[in-house]
Amino acid sequence: MPATDLTQVVILGASGDLTSRKLVPAVYAAQCQHLLPGRCQLVGVARRPWDDAFFRNHLTQSAPKLEACSYDSWEAFLKQTTYVQTHLDTPDDYRALAKRLDELAGEPANRVFYLAVKPELFLTSVENLHAVGLLDQSAGPWRRVVVEKPFGTDLASARVLNKALLGLIGEDQLYRIDHYLGKETVQNIMVFRFRNAMFEPLWNHKYVELVQITVAETVGMEGGRGGYYDTAGAVRDMLGNHVLQLLSLVAMEPPSRMTQKAIRDEKVKVLQDLRLHTDMPEPAKYIVRGQYDGYRAETGVKPESQTETFIATRAFIDNWRWGGVPFLLRTGKHLPARYTSISVQFRMPPHTLFGSYQECHLRPNTLTLRIQPNEGIDLGFEVKEPGAGITIKPAKLAMDYEDYFHKAIPEAYQRLLQDVITGDQSLFLRSDEVEESWRWADDLLKAMQQTPMQSYAKNSWGPSAANDLFGECEGRWTKG
Ligand SMILES: NC(=O)c1ccc[n+]([C@@H]2O[C@H](COP(=O)([O-])OP(=O)(O)OC[C@H]3O[C@@H](n4cnc5c(N)ncnc54)[C@H](OP(=O)(O)O)[C@@H]3O)[C@@H](O)[C@H]2O)c1
Repeated sequence: MPATDLTQVVILGASGDLTSRKLVPAVYAAQCQHLLPGRCQLVGVARRPWDDAFFRNHLTQSAPKLEACSYDSWEAFLKQTTYVQTHLDTPDDYRALAKRLDELAGEPANRVFYLAVKPELFLTSVENLHAVGLLDQSAGPWRRVVVEKPFGTDLASARVLNKALLGLIGEDQLYRIDHYLGKETVQNIMVFRFRNAMFEPLWNHKYVELVQITVAETVGMEGGRGGYYDTAGAVRDMLGNHVLQLLSLVAMEPPSRMTQKAIRDEKVKVLQDLRLHTDMPEPAKYIVRGQYDGYRAETGVKPESQTETFIATRAFIDNWRWGGVPFLLRTGKHLPARYTSISVQFRMPPHTLFGSYQECHLRPNTLTLRIQPNEGIDLGFEVKEPGAGITIKPAKLAMDYEDYFHKAIPEAYQRLLQDVITGDQSLFLRSDEVEESWRWADDLLKAMQQTPMQSYAKNSWGPSAANDLFGECEGRWTKG
């Protein structure tokens, strides 16, 4: 039995963008749909000298409207919402925070501390919370800490952060978030693979010729992102975390059971076996980096910046299932379409009965998992066009999530926050997963320095050299 059914969700960084756009709507939606296991209070923490009324008004103005819940329930939710002004780099403020949290609860309460602050404050916040006893679980109620991305800036810094945090709290208290894992379509990857026996026998090097994963964005540095992005770039911001999570779910072995340990054990093995295409002598043959025209003039970006806004690479997973199968990974800003998808290209038939393939790059048997937007699954094949003779045309079976289920897909953060409160870490990154991701990303960043930075026009598919990452007759990048 839990010691209490009251949970305080304490958001550090409550006046920020993530809180109003994603976190508060997520807690609210979960609560008003009765998906939380008990009662919930939301406590916002930041430096601004706001009071409860100001904070509530700010949330009403800035949080997106949610159709699933009524105006009355929003008002009721706000009554459970409080603001506590706190300087997170001032240890004394945490004593006042602890006192205020106790007063608000009025009884023993579980607590989630969500670190929606810049990464420089992650460790400081946890050290200070720990120092005043706010992370101590010995009295019964649990204490959990959610850490946003980026978790470190390379392998060395991620190791240091892991070590420091795990010196203060247990791995079971630490929830490293990658919001991609909260997406329904990402969770469906495992269901699709391991519940449908018809695909799993084909899911290996014997039948799969190539896998490509794209996260394409149409946006650039809008909303003042330039300053942060210029210190990160496409590898650190997207490829080394979100794309690797998609890759590990597509490539993992079936876990023996659906426990958080078994799932994370299998995902981490994929990351351990992931390598760059280093058997090619020149990195430019397997890595293409680019920067969109006008990037260096963006606010917050250095005029001589060498930060990549586009990256594409050809990687391999050195294990029995995937030996020799290229994984082509790509992400970029200011591309012509916004979408995330995984395409599994199956090999061609061993013998051509119906004339030759005029365009050898066409791959009719491709399974596409559309992660966002227009979430769904497409399966391509070729059929005979009705009429005399044999004319072959491509066709597809398509499943669209919203059409099929007639309901909106919940936001990723909602599912993840529910999991934090119920104590399920399956969709959060374990320390070894983060470190293995950085190991590979560090190799990529190092090799990337030996490749030229190529410019590309906004609204194009990035440098044309990215097309050469495919071998002859191996297919082409998807286009949304
Ligand atoms: N926004 C997104 O869509 C998004 C997506 C993925 C990950 N993230 C991650 O989420 C975190 C927050 O992002 P954000 O976009 O919400 O940032 P933001 O808009 O800049 O908000 C930062 C928050 O931190 C507070 N803060 C800063 N210094 C503080 C201090 N010393 N003491 C107390 N509070 C302090 C700020 O409030 P005051 O100025 O009032 O103190 C503000 O509430 C970052 O780690 C980011 O990388 C964000």
